[in-house]
Amino acid sequence: MKAKTVFYCTECGNETAKWSGRCTACGAWNTIEEAPEVKVTKASVKGGTVRRSRPSLIADLSTEAEARFSTGLKELDRVLGGGAVRGSIVLVGGAPGIGKSTLLLQICGLIGQREKILYVTGEESQRQLKMRAMRLGVDAGEIYVLAETDLNQVISCIEDVKPTVVIIDSIQTMYDAEVASAPGSVTQVRECTMTLMRQAKADNFTAFVVGHINKEGNIAGPKVLEHMVDCILYFEGDRNTSYRILRSGKNRFGSTNEIGVFEMESNGLREVENPSEMLLDGRPENAPGTCVTCVMEGTRPVLAEIQALVSNTGYNAARRNTNGIDHNRAMMLLAVLEKRGGVPIGGYDSYINVVGGLTVDEPAADLATVLAVASSYYDKPLGTHVAAIGEVGLSGEIRSVMNLNQRLTETARLGFQSCVIPYRTGKEEPNAPAGLKLIRVRNVREAIMAVFDE
Ligand code: TYD
Ligand code: MG
Repeated sequence: MKAKTVFYCTECGNETAKWSGRCTACGAWNTIEEAPEVKVTKASVKGGTVRRSRPSLIADLSTEAEARFSTGLKELDRVLGGGAVRGSIVLVGGAPGIGKSTLLLQICGLIGQREKILYVTGEESQRQLKMRAMRLGVDAGEIYVLAETDLNQVISCIEDVKPTVVIIDSIQTMYDAEVASAPGSVTQVRECTMTLMRQAKADNFTAFVVGHINKEGNIAGPKVLEHMVDCILYFEGDRNTSYRILRSGKNRFGSTNEIGVFEMESNGLREVENPSEMLLDGRPENAPGTCVTCVMEGTRPVLAEIQALVSNTGYNAARRNTNGIDHNRAMMLLAVLEKRGGVPIGGYDSYINVVGGLTVDEPAADLATVLAVASSYYDKPLGTHVAAIGEVGLSGEIRSVMNLNQRLTETARLGFQSCVIPYRTGKEEPNAPAGLKLIRVRNVREAIMAVFDE
């Protein structure tokens, strides 16, 4: 008898009885794949002994904080919400070659003395891994390496070694022999993650699982994967630069606002404690079309450079391009600048870019964006030591932002001499740090006049 097959959407994991070009659940095109049906029988449920669950009274539940440990990398600890949690499962996604394996192997080196680690690689041989470890200077401690793709072997190895940290590189290479479907398929990825998760909760180890990403930049595999794990980290960065940013897309044990910054060097990843310095590195002096602002990345103020280029259009309709900033927000700012700031940029092409691969999604960067565009239009530099912080409203007014003083301190620390800020600052009275002159403006027109002294 022919084995029964069903169809799955590789995007959302929705199961259907027949193939179609478009997933009826999530609307994605060309994502339906055929796979043998998985019948989960009593026997195939691991440890399928009869067991009774009991509820507890909420008053009796312990409020002890979850047990955490440091990964040895401050930047990673910060993104995880203050260290890794025992018994949790962390998914690490990122483009090929970005440094996922390097990051995880480096953690092994840092915590190998105090934790027992099992590094499972399905992508590299033990020899390849050893060569990389030597390059990173990871050679001591209780680090066990297993080159295996059969999940059941991995599980028995976990039971033998009893590690406190398990690294799976990567989930797409693992397969469960009981599931008749190819490694990397929706069913396999889902079942393997499920099994790992159950094991992690039962044995109280922390699992770091590498996940490949699809062309949209999300973790490849079923959407349910994202719901299952406790934390999802995305390792990002421009392949052409050595800077890498770690951000979290989901975190059951902390905020998702924090970022971690690293630099890839010849002997591994180095933590960057002062991202502002890195982001401002190599900034042109006295060039038109750039303005620095300070955005909050979680609890950390980070300086970002916004660049704009306004040029004569060669088309009937002006072209508008943005990178690192929300396109609609930028279009709104261009309109406000034209109508309220009196800068006639309507017939020009405008390009706006945030330097260093950073994504700015805070209204506090509005004023700097507007000033960068105006600076490019007038072809006049803003001055190397001028920064701007403020939200721009539709009537051209400059509105207050949160954490103003924290931002001003960071701006002053990096040697800026003046900063354009909102006239009204809400409850927070601005304290000018020593050496920083505050220029308080009410609206876009005032801001332009103040910096270009027309
Ligand atoms: P890798 O960790 O293998 O990426 P991933 O697992 O995300 O696919 O990183 C590979 C890249 O990093 C490769 O292009 C070489 C570079 N690299 C360094 O620059 N320095 C190093 O010390 C190491 C180990 C890798
Ligand atoms: Mg790798």
